[in-house]
Amino acid sequence: MSQYSYVDFLSELEIGSAHPGGFNRTKSIFLNEPIRKEMKVLDVGCGTGDTALFLQGSFHCNVDVIENHPKMLKKVKKRFASKRATINVFEGSVEQMPFLNNTYDYIICESIIAFVDAKKALNECHRVLKNNGILLLNEMSFVEPIKKTELIRCKEFYQLQECNTADQWKEKLEETGFSKINTLKVSSSIESQLIDITLTPNMDSNLLDLLDEHQLLQKELDGKVGNIILKCEK
Ligand SMILES: C[S@@+](CC[C@H](N)C(=O)[O-])C[C@H]1O[C@@H](n2cnc3c(N)ncnc32)[C@H](O)[C@@H]1O
Repeated sequence: MSQYSYVDFLSELEIGSAHPGGFNRTKSIFLNEPIRKEMKVLDVGCGTGDTALFLQGSFHCNVDVIENHPKMLKKVKKRFASKRATINVFEGSVEQMPFLNNTYDYIICESIIAFVDAKKALNECHRVLKNNGILLLNEMSFVEPIKKTELIRCKEFYQLQECNTADQWKEKLEETGFSKINTLKVSSSIESQLIDITLTPNMDSNLLDLLDEHQLLQKELDGKVGNIILKCEK
């Protein structure tokens, strides 16, 4: 087993937009979203901050992010500072967020809820959203039938807590109390993007091994692990 978790690997190599469809998917989702300047938007598990920067740059809205990975936090703070972005970075877990009830107009979760206790995380998103606020999820979804061995391999590599099918994701949103649940996209492919990294002489070979394993796993699981984009309202 590697000394690095999947999220360590993302943070060490500064891999951004680590969600199905990558950054292009994010841009295409927000082409049609009614984000206004006065809105308060939260990006949960923001990673390197690509989406938060894009949202603030495009809509000039108030953007907050929350992350719990120490290295990722350090890097994202530095990145926002270097771009003079006025994005507030909060350290904490989506399972227990340091925000008051009814704070946000819009919450985006890109490839984060599968990594945590979905029930707790969705309850928290519901709590901190304003009434009629929007939650948008872009998550991996499992396509049945999937072999148990493949499921275990996927769960272990990504350290997933949730391996939901599209229907299970929708049920979880319903159980949490969300309404107007709308499937914007469902696909049997994760539609991963090529990872572009700059190799450096001192780069830890364990990270390169993980990169290879990641690319291989995504190929192997294509058609078995897909993607769902859901939009719903509090
Ligand atoms: C697969 S990455 C996706 C990152 C980003 N949303 C993106 O699309 O590039 C998952 C992110 O969620 C963060 N994360 C994992 N568990 C979390 C938790 N309980 N609370 C907040 N963030 C968490 C990880 O540190 C990581 O940055």
